[in-house]
Amino acid sequence: MAKSLDEYEKIVMLKDGSKALIRPVRGEDAEDLLKMFTTLSPETVYNRFFKLRRPFTIEEVQKMTSINFDEEFALVASPLEASELKIIGDARYYVEDKIRAEVAIVVQDRWQFKGLGTAMLQHLINIGRENNIREFYIYVLSDNAVMIHVAKKLGFRLKSQSYGISRFDLTFQS
Ligand SMILES: CC(C)(COP(=O)(O)OP(=O)(O)OC[C@H]1O[C@@H](n2cnc3c(N)ncnc32)[C@H](O)[C@@H]1OP(=O)(O)O)[C@@H](O)C(=O)NCCC(=O)NCCS
Repeated sequence: MAKSLDEYEKIVMLKDGSKALIRPVRGEDAEDLLKMFTTLSPETVYNRFFKLRRPFTIEEVQKMTSINFDEEFALVASPLEASELKIIGDARYYVEDKIRAEVAIVVQDRWQFKGLGTAMLQHLINIGRENNIREFYIYVLSDNAVMIHVAKKLGFRLKSQSYGISRFDLTFQS
């Protein structure tokens, strides 16, 4: 990592005027992340995982919170005001090789359309660039108009499309 993890914390203002903290995930986030996953709508789960899944387990989520940040970088978001959910978004990239990484994101349904997904992805991409990632890609269901809009807004371009799944790439020269 180019910096210590604390230095990747960021407060963002959402479209409704509320604020959220975006920060690297920590081991102790497992229960709060599980709570977020268990409150996602079926549509949101399907758009994130491309299938309707069995319920998430604490073991699965523990793997998502105790990560090697050189192989995977995960950001979570928390509302700054009181909220029943402590974690409302999860954006991560998985390093495929030293300069290429796959991105995935989910924002809890009640917090969608407030600008959080865009802010989390922009922050994640900036962090990846600081850590030598030059090529980001994301797989999106081809009818996921919201994610496609956000990806294009951030500079991703359609690379390929098959069986209802589109791949969008974002490449930096240096
Ligand atoms: C995709 C996702 C991460 C976006 O997060 P978000 O916080 O809702 O996104 P934002 O609020 O930053 O941006 C949403 C954008 O979509 C736009 N939008 C809303 N409805 C839309 C529609 N029907 N078609 C196209 N764009 C639409 C909004 O206007 C906004 O764009 P703008 O800021 O330029 O006005 C979130 O919807 C989500 O978690 N979806 C399920 C998981 C998923 O699809 N993951 C991607 C695959 S890994």
